[in-house]
Amino acid sequence: MYRKKLIGPFRQLIPMTGLALKGAIADSQLTILENAGILIKDGDILAISSFEDLAKNSEDVEIQELKGNHTCIPGLIDAHTHICYGGSRAKDYAMRNAGKTYLEIAKAGGGIWDTVTQTRKASKEALIKSTTKLANRHLKNGVTTLEVKSGYGLSVDEELKMLHAIKETNSLVAADLIPTCLAAHMLPKDYDGNQEAYLAEISTKLFPILKEQRLANRIDAFVEESAFSAAQIAPYFEKAKAMGFDITVHADQFSTSGSQVAVDFGALSADHLEASTETEINLLAKSDTIATALPGASLGLGCGFTPARQLLDAGGSLAIASDHNPGSAPMGDLLTQASILGAFEKLSNAEVLAGITFRAAAALKLNNRGRLAKGYHADFIGFHTDYYQEILYNQGNFKPCMVWKNGDLVFDKHS
Ligand code: NIG
Ligand code: FE
Repeated sequence: MYRKKLIGPFRQLIPMTGLALKGAIADSQLTILENAGILIKDGDILAISSFEDLAKNSEDVEIQELKGNHTCIPGLIDAHTHICYGGSRAKDYAMRNAGKTYLEIAKAGGGIWDTVTQTRKASKEALIKSTTKLANRHLKNGVTTLEVKSGYGLSVDEELKMLHAIKETNSLVAADLIPTCLAAHMLPKDYDGNQEAYLAEISTKLFPILKEQRLANRIDAFVEESAFSAAQIAPYFEKAKAMGFDITVHADQFSTSGSQVAVDFGALSADHLEASTETEINLLAKSDTIATALPGASLGLGCGFTPARQLLDAGGSLAIASDHNPGSAPMGDLLTQASILGAFEKLSNAEVLAGITFRAAAALKLNNRGRLAKGYHADFIGFHTDYYQEILYNQGNFKPCMVWKNGDLVFDKHS
């Protein structure tokens, strides 16, 4: 039994090292290693260097030599998804394209509430099955870590069902699933009370169980006119922070105020931001909160993109996530969406790749992935090409041919 593993050579390897967490990045700042190998021990990277040099010193090393041309980047990190749900919202999508707005559909009883009804009907086992399928689809597309939110249960018991389903799915799939509690997604229509009463019930009854059963360490809320106001969410986030949870916010999707809440509470990330103006952009740029663009929601709703270029130029940090959900973002293809955002927002290759690797890792408070260097998880993906620029150039139509998680080959298109 070998103790170490050497994988390579990669014609190009982009380690995403030496790049700042905030601000614009030029492609000229990218480190590009040629004919590199990755030496791995116990799932972590031991060294990255010339494959030839590493292979010379091969005592106790299993060498997995790649044939043909491969370019390697870190495993992708999708920092915002809702892939645990029941049913479909194809009807909503058709209605929107026929002229109804997302908020009109929600007011008429469709939208998020429709998925809540379907998710409540689904057993935990059914949710595990569908979430596993989607997580495996993301894995084939290169996503080795993805966040998954609850938020279609909207009662203590139903949110627990979802979070248990997410936890159990995590033990069945190769990717790491990072759970987030989104019980504050909307006021449940069958709740006999107001927003304040609902949030108080969730924070007093659900939060302690999340801690006890280690179901989630992140609390999210949809701050929006149709969901919860900044004033309503403040005591909820105060309670969450006092209990040691990390905060993340669905902010500025249709109207502003969410990003101010995110910054006030030191949120890890403020996500959506399609409606953000210069005021919110500057606020976020000055803060440590990561701005997470969700181009999949813009494509699903047919609306404008998050002002990613302005956020970066103002000095902010930008992650890019799929928001994969049955309503606003049904596509669920991070690489396609990030490439398209890059074309519309004029983002460099380096900025797009940063947004789906180490900047996304920071939005999840994970400092052990998203870059390829000694001590980081050996999560990386290979594409059949000599040049890294081919990856985004193909706008998502060029998929990875190999995916490694903790040093193990978990997807191989050749086999
Ligand atoms: O991130 N905006 C609120 N929540 C989700 C949509 C959920 C849904 O439509 O089911 C989002 O877009
Ligand atoms: Fe979302």
